[in-house]
Amino acid sequence: MISLWIVAWMAQGAHPCAPCHAQIVADYGRTAMARTSARAVAGKPGEFQDAATGVRYRVDAGLRMHFEKGEDLRGVRQLEWVFGSGRVGHSYLFREGARLYQAPVSWYEEAGRWGLSPGFQRAGRLDLTRVIEPGCLNCHVSGERPGITCERCHGEAEAHRRSGGKAAVVNPAKLARHERDSVCAQCHLTGAARVAKYRTDGKTWKPGEKLADYSAVYLAEVQAGDGLVGVTSHFEKLAQSECRMKSGDKLSCTNCHDPHQKPADAAVFFNAKCLGCHEQKPCREAPRGNCIGCHMPKAVGRGVDHSSYTDHSIPRRPGTTRERQRGEMEAFWPGADSQRDRGLALAVLNRFEQARALLTEAVGPASGDVMAMSQLAQIEERSGREAEAAIWYERILARDPGHVAALVNLGVERVRKGRAVEAIAMWRKALAVNPVQTGVRMNLAQALMRLGKRAEAVAELREALRLDPDQPRLRAILLQWNAN
Ligand code: HEC
Ligand code: HEC
Ligand code: HEC
Ligand code: HEC
Ligand code: HEC
Ligand code: HEC
Ligand code: HEC
Repeated sequence: MISLWIVAWMAQGAHPCAPCHAQIVADYGRTAMARTSARAVAGKPGEFQDAATGVRYRVDAGLRMHFEKGEDLRGVRQLEWVFGSGRVGHSYLFREGARLYQAPVSWYEEAGRWGLSPGFQRAGRLDLTRVIEPGCLNCHVSGERPGITCERCHGEAEAHRRSGGKAAVVNPAKLARHERDSVCAQCHLTGAARVAKYRTDGKTWKPGEKLADYSAVYLAEVQAGDGLVGVTSHFEKLAQSECRMKSGDKLSCTNCHDPHQKPADAAVFFNAKCLGCHEQKPCREAPRGNCIGCHMPKAVGRGVDHSSYTDHSIPRRPGTTRERQRGEMEAFWPGADSQRDRGLALAVLNRFEQARALLTEAVGPASGDVMAMSQLAQIEERSGREAEAAIWYERILARDPGHVAALVNLGVERVRKGRAVEAIAMWRKALAVNPVQTGVRMNLAQALMRLGKRAEAVAELREALRLDPDQPRLRAILLQWNAN
């Protein structure tokens, strides 16, 4: 499968930077970042049965995923994007309307076979409803272009290219420290919660700028036994290391990593980097040993199946990890902290009442901050304060008429007030944005039925069942309507 990927990369045609940076383009094309996503073109066919649900999955050579269980349940989805360079395996996405969804099947490289995707065991049924959030794409795809493109780290380079290299282009190595670190942190730092800041100018971060002006990152309190390494923990861990703390901010990701190239021999490559700073005062234990073998061991990642991550806290003694004691909800960039950002972060960590207190104070009724208002509305709703929630949703809709949560929830409120026609319009709009919302489509069908629009109601239920087929409840309603 890997070789297919390289073919796919090359088949993208002449790379715009290749005429002048041929070596970098060729090397970079082989890295995990360049290949972290691609259009899915072809794969190894295979099949398996999920023992827990009895669903049989079969993937054919054209990457169509067929599923089947008994008489009722069968269907097919075209796998369209592949995620993950294949260190662990490949995840797949399929499309429904304008949105992408995570497929329940993944390719497992080591085992050389298809299996259920990580996290899908919990569903306990065939689950085709996992919509891919924009954040997911932002870290793995570059707009419509697969993989992580040069521009993600170097910014817009069109003028540079056209001028034959005369016009300036961002080189992270020449940036101030915070701006330099921001380039890798845009994807490699999430902390316990990462919150997009509210900006009245609506701008998003670009290479060359400080990420802290666009997002706040909060670290969770360190607890006993927390020594493991999380998936996007490289930044937090490196910040704990003596190497980083004692060399000021001089030590950055690129002191050790060449983002354009995967090292041929990790031990040789990285040891040279260590010695760049430690030559003068060599290690007492093993002055010529494999530095990373003892000081940067692999540990099993938190929350990720079967994967291991390198301990970037660079501990003194093998078998330990460095973890500075930390208070609760410490901001990674202290300057980026604010009441509103902290409130949103607390909500991510399910600490709703604390979040509510901060957000209510920080977000006024005239605010244009849809993200904060939406979180407040959800908190109110969760605590049964439906009237307060509705007020927030109305304010959100006034600013963002396509806001899915506002449309869905206000639809329910309209039905309660006997305004079914309005509710139907709202739900249709929400389903146009994200078509796979079974509960919403069921509500829509029932509202249509009550208005005597039987044919439309049945069509919506059938569509709900096509999109989310493992739903005996929907089948029961159709049966009840004599429409199965
Ligand atoms: C904040 C950025 C970010 C977001 C958001 C994000 N990822 Fe990742 N993802 C990463 C990074 C970085 C890695 C590499 C892990 C590492 O080594 O730190 C990774 C690794 C992976 C891998 C494993 C790759 C392999 O072959 O080992 C898969 C699959 C994946 N992500 C899928 C997803 C999906 C699906 C989503 C959305 C639900 C998602 N990611 C959201 C940054 C992100
Ligand atoms: C993941 C981020 C990242 C990506 C993607 C990336 N670069 Fe770079 N690039 C850097 C960093 C960081 C430096 C500075 C390296 C250093 O000197 O420390 C750099 C430096 C450079 C330089 C300066 C000279 C040199 O050899 O270091 C050129 C030219 C360059 N990149 C071209 C490209 C091209 C062309 C692509 C796409 C094929 C690309 N880069 C993709 C991060 C990236
Ligand atoms: C027509 C030739 C040409 C093309 C095409 C080109 N570059 Fe360059 N690039 C150059 C030259 C020449 C330099 C060296 C400029 C200098 O050192 O002043 C350079 C330098 C760079 C640097 C380092 C800048 C610095 O200040 O250190 C980066 C980064 C870079 N290019 C990225 C890119 C990317 C990304 C692309 C593709 C989108 C690209 N280049 C396309 C000619 C080109
Ligand atoms: C646009 C998002 C993004 C940016 C920017 C980014 N990374 Fe990554 N990086 C990823 C993802 C996603 C992966 C996982 C790729 C995979 O295995 O699918 C990854 C993987 C890596 C790996 C593991 C490579 C391997 O072969 O296993 C290293 C090392 C790395 N990144 C370093 C950096 C450095 C250094 C920078 C900054 C110069 C940087 N990254 C910037 C998203 C990003
Ligand atoms: C940018 C310079 C720099 C680089 C690169 C660097 N270190 Fe360090 N490291 C330091 C400084 C500064 C200290 C503080 C102690 C000192 O001055 O020797 C330190 C301390 C350490 C310690 C002692 C940690 C403790 O908790 O007491 C170890 C172990 C270590 N480094 C290993 C490594 C290894 C292994 C690498 C390569 C993977 C590496 N370092 C790369 C600068 C660096
Ligand atoms: C002191 C050297 C050093 C620094 C600095 C460093 N790394 Fe690493 N990194 C390593 C080593 C060594 C590995 C393991 C490489 C291997 O085994 O092939 C690694 C592996 C990785 C991987 C692959 C997944 C894993 O955990 O094994 C990612 C992603 C990564 N580093 C990201 C980063 C980011 C982001 C930064 C900056 C915050 C950074 N690294 C800074 C030495 C370093
Ligand atoms: C066999 C495992 C092993 C290897 C290989 C190893 N170290 Fe160490 N290193 C240790 C241990 C154990 C200590 C702690 C010594 C102590 O606390 O008395 C240490 C301590 C250190 C320190 C703290 C200063 C000191 O000497 O006490 C630095 C810096 C360091 N190592 C760097 C390196 C570098 C650079 C390399 C690669 C050239 C390396 N180590 C290879 C096990 C190792």
